[in-house]
Amino acid sequence: MPRLVNIAAPAILLVVAFVSLFVGLAIGGGAQAELLADPGAIVRYGLPAAQLLFNISAAATIGSLAMVCFGLDAKRPEFSRALDFASATAMVWTVSSLFTGLLTFESVYLQPIAFDDRFGQLLGSYLISQPIGQAALVSTIIPAVVTILCFAVRSQTTLFFVTVLSVAGLIPMALQGHAAGSAGHDMAVSSLGLHLVFVAIWLGGLLLLVAIRKQLEPDRLPVVLGRFSTLAIFCFVVVAASGIANAQLRVGDWSRLLTPYGILVILKVVAILGLGLFGAVQRQFLIRKLAVASQAKHRYFWWFVIAELAVMGFASGIAAALARTRTPIPQEVLTTTPAYILTGEPLPPELTPIRYLTEWKFDILWILIVAFLAFFYLAGVRRLRKRGDHWSIFKTASFMIALLVLFYVTNGAVNAYEKYLFSVHMLAHMTLGMIIPVLIAPGAPITLALRAINKRDDDSRGVREWIMLAVHSRVAKVLSRPVVAAIFFAGSLWVFYYSPLFRWATEDHIGHTFMIFHFLISGYLFVQTLVGTDPLPYRAPYPMRLVILLATLAFHAFFGVTLMTGTGLLLADWYGAMGRPWGVDAITDQRAGGGIAWSIGEIPTLALAIFVLIMWSKSDARLAKRLDRKAARDGDADLAEYNSMLARLERRP
Ligand code: HEM
Repeated sequence: MPRLVNIAAPAILLVVAFVSLFVGLAIGGGAQAELLADPGAIVRYGLPAAQLLFNISAAATIGSLAMVCFGLDAKRPEFSRALDFASATAMVWTVSSLFTGLLTFESVYLQPIAFDDRFGQLLGSYLISQPIGQAALVSTIIPAVVTILCFAVRSQTTLFFVTVLSVAGLIPMALQGHAAGSAGHDMAVSSLGLHLVFVAIWLGGLLLLVAIRKQLEPDRLPVVLGRFSTLAIFCFVVVAASGIANAQLRVGDWSRLLTPYGILVILKVVAILGLGLFGAVQRQFLIRKLAVASQAKHRYFWWFVIAELAVMGFASGIAAALARTRTPIPQEVLTTTPAYILTGEPLPPELTPIRYLTEWKFDILWILIVAFLAFFYLAGVRRLRKRGDHWSIFKTASFMIALLVLFYVTNGAVNAYEKYLFSVHMLAHMTLGMIIPVLIAPGAPITLALRAINKRDDDSRGVREWIMLAVHSRVAKVLSRPVVAAIFFAGSLWVFYYSPLFRWATEDHIGHTFMIFHFLISGYLFVQTLVGTDPLPYRAPYPMRLVILLATLAFHAFFGVTLMTGTGLLLADWYGAMGRPWGVDAITDQRAGGGIAWSIGEIPTLALAIFVLIMWSKSDARLAKRLDRKAARDGDADLAEYNSMLARLERRP
């Protein structure tokens, strides 16, 4: 029986997946022969099949590593067994990526595989100079490296970075396929990227449960399953939201749902509802039952898991077919306006005060980040309250307002216009780097997390353990020095705008996302070292904080004034070439951006300075009170000691 489960689980997943793929290709027409330039049946069917194996093996690797990082005990056999499994699936991932890359080459260049110079040169130039070839190369190198690292590394901290690397192995794919099209490109990349990563964690985590089954003692299974189930709920929400967001870009409205593409999407929705049901039964019923059931009874649970894997296989097969199916909304919109050529999206209407409220450009990544942060923060406060601990309403309000502002900056008019107007970009920068961190710091999210999240009682690491590790790490020790945080914060202003980073963040959606994270983190760190209450390895004396703040204030002002008085246009071939028929010209707009950097930069900095002064006076008052209490307790021994010292000095000849 035990051996059967180990074979049946992956076998049923793969068989159902491949059958669903071919059914999906038949429904969607994704493998139909092209009238012109037909690469042949082997490529038309081989490519989605290789892609499907790529998706499943990538999922098995990433899901296993996610469980290694968040669910498994490093001191038990389940841990190294999981890494062996991850190493093996990463090898399959590497080989399937190789085939996907080769078949993609075939489908683009229509060159039959030949072992001659010409074929080699063509393949070489495809891999080195073509974006689709470069994506194939990166998507092969990363799993190859992950294979070795999973085999060789056993440190939990290093494995966290191996997991991040393996997730990066999915990014090139999120940029290809239908997401490479121009319609709604940013949202397409965000939604498909999120979709792929969380499908991988979900499917891979479930597969891993089967792979480490024998290493799990009977009392361990409910514990590990409980942790997987928490991850799975998270994945369910992200996969559904990102899938619907992506489908919306391709299908548009309900009227196109009965197109072949639409029908495949419907099948996936049915699949995810089924998976949701499996998840609910697991969480509400099975975990408790397993804790009391005999080992013999556990076999029913494993057939339940195999059934769940079959539904996952169905969804994965349909997904690979979907990626090859013509979308009801054409992905290439042929307009030749300068703004469209540069950004891949139509120019929004003229920016007027009212449009700051009416124009929106949603980004599923930030919608989910804000929603989850709000949910977990309020759940943490509720847990503290439930056990009778106090958490000030001011902290909660400050954090929630910070999230509202973050939602607006990443989804509202600022997000819709920052690609076209430097001034709006600067508004985004200053809000992310200054205003939001000044609102987050009083909310003390780290303190709340450390107080609300339960400690793990084995050698695994949950969110609480990872936060503790990060707060006490050597990196945190360096970054929590106000001077370092100030240089990181203010210095990155100059580095960002006067290096290729600005172009990357403006032209590329992934660059743009990194920019938002960087501004938020550098701003949060800076504010945290000055006025934050969250735990930090080092706290600078108040006078020093004030000096650093004033220096940063001056630096910021200087940066703003440079832009306000500058004559050279930053990214002239972007902001200067937008062809906006409305608003001020690009250099005037840039100067307005300088004004925003100066003003919006200064106001929160001033607020911070006042905050530091208040905290300083309060800490002095606390010190005075403490000294008074001591004096009262020991009859003012310090003063007596001091006076006797003065007396001794006086008596000296
Ligand atoms: C609400 C449910 C879901 C919806 C609406 C949905 C929608 C989508 C869409 C629109 C795409 C992009 C296809 C393209 O390139 O045009 C996609 C890709 C994908 N989906 Fe889903 N999905 C859902 C659930 C799932 C589930 C449950 C799984 C797996 C367990 C899954 C696995 C995938 C994979 C692997 C891809 C990438 C396919 C490829 O490019 O090869 N999806 N999904």
